[in-house]
Formats: sequence, C-alpha cells, structure tokens
Amino acid sequence: MSTDQQPPQASTGMFRTKTVEQSIRDTEEPEHALKKSLSAWDLTVFGVGVIIGTGIFVLTGKVAKENAGPATALAFVAAGIVCALAALCYAEFASTVPVAGSAYTFAYASIGELPAWIIGWDLVLEFALGTAVVAVGWSGYVRSLMDNIGWHLPAALEGPDVADGVFDVLAFLLVLVLTVILVLGMKLSARITALVVAIKVTVVMIVIVAGLFFIVGDNYSPFIPPSVTPPAGSGWDAPLIQTIFGYEPTNFGVMGIFTAASVVFFAFIGFDVVATAAEETKLPQRDMPRGILGSLFICTVLYVAVALVVTGMQHYSELSVSAPLADAFKATGHPFYAGVISFGAAVGLTTVCLILLLGQTRVFFAMSRDGLLPRFFSVTHPRFRTPYRPTILLGVVIAIVAGFTSIEELATLVNIGTLFAFVVVAFGVIVLRRSRPDLPRAFRTPWVPVLPILSIAASFWLMLNLPGETWFRFAVWMAIGILVYFLYGRRNSRLGKAGPDAVY
Ligand code: ALA
Repeated sequence: MSTDQQPPQASTGMFRTKTVEQSIRDTEEPEHALKKSLSAWDLTVFGVGVIIGTGIFVLTGKVAKENAGPATALAFVAAGIVCALAALCYAEFASTVPVAGSAYTFAYASIGELPAWIIGWDLVLEFALGTAVVAVGWSGYVRSLMDNIGWHLPAALEGPDVADGVFDVLAFLLVLVLTVILVLGMKLSARITALVVAIKVTVVMIVIVAGLFFIVGDNYSPFIPPSVTPPAGSGWDAPLIQTIFGYEPTNFGVMGIFTAASVVFFAFIGFDVVATAAEETKLPQRDMPRGILGSLFICTVLYVAVALVVTGMQHYSELSVSAPLADAFKATGHPFYAGVISFGAAVGLTTVCLILLLGQTRVFFAMSRDGLLPRFFSVTHPRFRTPYRPTILLGVVIAIVAGFTSIEELATLVNIGTLFAFVVVAFGVIVLRRSRPDLPRAFRTPWVPVLPILSIAASFWLMLNLPGETWFRFAVWMAIGILVYFLYGRRNSRLGKAGPDAVY
C-alpha cells in the first residue's frame, strides 16, 4: 500500500474515482460484506413496497384540491415519465456497479469523489426525511383508525401537525421498531415486506375497482380547471420557475399540472431504493433492471387509475387532504370501504418506512466503508450480517425527527434531493460510457447520450417547479455536506490514502 501511488485511469484529489472493480472487491471483504439473498421477485416486491405510500394515499387529495383538479392523473403521468427516464439510467448503473449505495456508488465510479460525496449526502437527506414523512403519515392513519374505535391519544402526543400537538409518539415508536427489525436481518424484513405489500396492493385495487361504480361524470368537468391566482403570500412558496420568470403565481391550468407533478413525484420515490440493494441481490446483472422497471411500471398504472377514480367520485374541491382515498368512500356513503382502506394504508405505510430506512442505512454504510464517514459504521454484525451501527444511529435520529417535525415542508425537500440525485445518475451514465466503455453492462440505457440528457432536463424541470423556499433549504443542507467533506472525508478517504487500484 502506498500513499502516492497513482493509477492510470483515475484523476487525483476531489475528482478521483473509484474503479468499478474496486467497488466490487470491497464488497467481498468478509467483515464488510452483506449477504446476497435477494431475487428479481424480492426486488419488485421491495420496489412496490416502498413506492406506494404517502404519495398516493395522502398527497393525491392535496394536489387535486389545490393544484390540478382531475388533471392530477396527468401530473402522475408527467412524474412517471420523469422517473421512467431516470429508471433507465439507474438500471444501467445498478447492473454495472452492483454495490450497496445506489447513486452514491455510481457517482464514485464515474464522476469522482466529491460529486459522490455530494450525492451520498443528498441521499441521506432523501431517505432520512422520507422515512420521517412516511412515519408521520402512518401515524395519522393509525390515529384515525383508533378514533373509529373510540381510543384517543392526548393531543400533545399527536404530533406537531395537530392543534396543540407537540410530539408524534406513534411515528417515533414506529421508526424505533423498524430499526430493530432491520438490525435483526434482511430476510426477516423481506418476509414481512412481502405480506404487507400484498395487503397494500389489494387495498389500492379495492379503491380502483369499487370506486369505479361511484364515479359521477360531472366531476371531470373541467378536467383541467382554469388557472387561478392564489391569495397573496410570500414569494418563497411559489414555484421557482414562476419567480424566476416573474409570473404571477397561479394554481391549476396547465402550469398547475407541473406544480402538482413536482409534489406527487414523492409517490414514485423508492424505485431508486431498489438499486441500493444491488449488493444483496443474487444476480444483479439480470434482476436489477427487472426489479426497478417492473415496480415502476406497476405503480404508474395504479396511480393514474386511483387519481382518475378518486377525482371522479368526489369533486376535487371537496376532497379531503389527510385521507382522501378513504374519505371519498365516506362521502359517497360507504364507510365500510373507508375503514378497510384506512387499515390497508396504515399497514402499507409501514413497509415504505422500513425500506426507506433500509436504503438510508445502506448509503451511510457504503460511505463509511469508503472512509468518507468514520469506518466504525461499516462493520457488519457478526451474527446478523447487517450494518447495525448506522442502522441504530440513524434509526434513533430519524425517530426523533419524525416525532417533532411537520410533514409538509419535509416532503418537497425530499423531492428536490431525489431529483438532484437523478440528474447526477444520468450524467454518470454518459461519463461512464466514455471512461469505461469496456465494462460489461447487463442492461444498457437506450439512446445514450440523448436519453440521459432528456432525463436530466426532465428532472431539472420538476425541480424548477418546486418552491424557492425548498431550494434554499436544500442549498443549506448541501453546504453543510461540503464542509463535512473538506473537514473529514477528504483526509480520511480510503481511496485518497491508498489509490484506486490498491488492495486494502
Ligand atoms: N413513494 C413513497 C411514498 O409515496 C415514498 O410514500
């Protein structure tokens, strides 16, 4: 091992890249290896398990009411297209670099250490806040079920979104229990996931099939409501694109569809998490693309159907914001269906939380294994073979965040972080094709570089439709990350110490 050894293909300093072979070799060190037990089916179940969640169960009502009306279905199509483009890029990367860490690992192998760090830091934001958002959404559904049978929590324990609420005890406990499950091992959580996913998909199908009978055609007219100017407020809340070009902010109309798409985008988050489990997949070259694209396709079809049914059952202006799917059935006089849907939503959101938490710990694990975060976190449990240290640390932090934080502003922050990761991955596909054309790629993104460029443009367009306020928070988080890199990661990076081809 030598500190000044420079391999032929790598740049130095913050743009040094880790070779793909080295990324794979790292996973073979017994002390730092994860168990390879997942199949394409497990991955698809995983994908559907994390994708369908708060987005469809909660945000649909909000954007239909405030941004797009029945055209929310079109917003799902728009967000689905952005994700499909990104998925085609993710699939190539995941099948080429089958190592834990998702976009982080991909960026490390293609663009360089600093961009990889930035993306890893960004993914920590996406998954940690995503877990917290879903835990809070879950807590809302559970409270609503508890209310049905006459149990009530003290207001102070209902969470900051509720009047007089301070701490969301249910969201807090949920994250802690899931943390324990993850520490005990992947297999256990995959089994639980499969059962819960079945319940969740059944409930979504009930919404679609039963709801069809209660659609009133008049509710679709107009399908794209005319644009309206919202009450004067801070420019911070307006989509950045409207602020930049000096438009008066509007809701509804054609622009409203894009605003809605930038919010319901949250409903698709998760297919990228499938890529984080590449290292635990038996045949990643074949199964990763199947798992990612399959779960994304299933979810897009279900979302469009649900959005059409719900806005057909109830006029968009009357939809509920907290539990729109269940409440649409209540409004048409079918409380039984409403109860079943609430139950399914509560059960389903559990898996979303679990998988986001899993993705979170795997990214952290990969960053620590590379020395960009303390190596203490990348030692797997001797018996369970899980990265238990980051799992416990992050689980506790996220539980506290979920307990004390309001759901709404966090969701848009998650979206901007994820879209940014999409931009980096698409860029990485182009770079890696040029720098390592020789690598075997089980799945090749079609039409490179045209498709990745389209993916970058589409993701960026959705980012521009998010509020200026969200951009500001994102910039602050990233600035902190860059500081951490220069104070810790740059000096402690294994790659920096050993050189890309060293065996250590
Ligand atoms: N897509 C996931 C959800 O909607 C994160 O909850």
